[in-house]
Amino acid sequence: MDSMGRSSVRLLVAVGLLLLRFNWCLAVDGGGVAEVGGAFPMVVSTWPFREAVRAAWEVVSASDGGGSAVDAVVAGCSACEVLRCDGTVGPGGSPDENGETTLDALIMNGATMEIGAVAAMRYVKDGIKAAKLVMDHSLHTLLVGEKATDFAISMGLPGPINLSSPESLEKWANWRQNHCQPNFWKNVAPAGSCGPYRPINLAQALDSVKHEVEGSQGGVCQDWFQSDNLLEPINSHLKFIDRHNHDTISMAVIDKMGHIAVGTSTNGATFKIPGRVGDGPIPGSSSYGDDEVGACGASGDGDIMMRFLPCYQVVESMRRGMEPQDAARDAISRIARKYPDFVGAVFAVNRKGVHAGACHGWTFQYSVMNSSMHDVEVITVYP
Ligand SMILES: *[C@@H]1O[C@H](CO)[C@@H](O)[C@H](O)[C@H]1NC(C)=O
Ligand SMILES: *[C@@H]1O[C@H](CO)[C@@H](O)[C@H](O)[C@H]1NC(C)=O
Repeated sequence: MDSMGRSSVRLLVAVGLLLLRFNWCLAVDGGGVAEVGGAFPMVVSTWPFREAVRAAWEVVSASDGGGSAVDAVVAGCSACEVLRCDGTVGPGGSPDENGETTLDALIMNGATMEIGAVAAMRYVKDGIKAAKLVMDHSLHTLLVGEKATDFAISMGLPGPINLSSPESLEKWANWRQNHCQPNFWKNVAPAGSCGPYRPINLAQALDSVKHEVEGSQGGVCQDWFQSDNLLEPINSHLKFIDRHNHDTISMAVIDKMGHIAVGTSTNGATFKIPGRVGDGPIPGSSSYGDDEVGACGASGDGDIMMRFLPCYQVVESMRRGMEPQDAARDAISRIARKYPDFVGAVFAVNRKGVHAGACHGWTFQYSVMNSSMHDVEVITVYP
């Protein structure tokens, strides 16, 4: 090998190591980076939710001119709600601490920047349709809880309906039997059992322990503070975040007119504290889209991701000239710098139809459909 060849190999190895170092994930599609340009219409969705993508595609590609991007997003997310994709979308999944299933959903029209969303909605099974009713028939953006239920039912959606299923109730019963572990509480007592909990002042608790330890055997202190002993109960929930706990359908559609819409539907995190609202109904977090630029969808640990508005970040980065792949990686790495243990992913698609994904802490998949594909393509993004 000549020296030129050797140095390019060295460069490639260095770049590879760098990517590994940052736990970045490259969207690989048959060995290359999946950045493909294309014409409209187009549907992109988190995860291999093929039926949802087909349902959206049917609407947006119809031969009589095709439906709007907004209608396609509603059709796609509704399909997932009916199918209960992965048990994490629609009714019958992700029981909260009381065993109840509630829904979060959002829809956004990228032509007008109108948004409708519902959060912690009880007794109505049609999350994305409720979100669209908020967008179409109110001047508000987000309705929550039982008030969202009342609104949705008054606008014609079926309800009240019990959203539990035999599976969700069984899951909940097993969790209760396991002393309500793991859960989403921190700095509370009693640890390791079901509530009711009371807050403990961490600083005080540390202080009293510190005094005890110092009083007896000075050197032990440091070890004890770094031991799992202390950290375990506080961060216990980190251990049970996986695809089937923090899963969401986020979908982006570009219609034949080039208009963009995005939407999200989820039943939230399993064993969440009642009242918890995740990233799903938060504009710019789970999804975001603007006709002028493109769109983004996200999935993962919503409690952390919503602190960074990753999809707003992706779209604004693309507006400022970044390619979808760079914008997606940048949004993920901003979160990873502060929360190295978070799991999450985004897809990015620009208005030309170039798409890419990035993820952290898990293997991510997203689905794409356009007019030159015979069926939905699933793209894997490796950690
Ligand atoms: C659809 O996507 C494929 C692969 O991702 C790409 O090669 C093709 O150009 C796209 N077609 C259109 C019409 O956008
Ligand atoms: C739904 O039905 C189950 C099973 O009958 C019941 O235990 C539960 O309390 C109901 N949930 C709500 C929120 O009414």
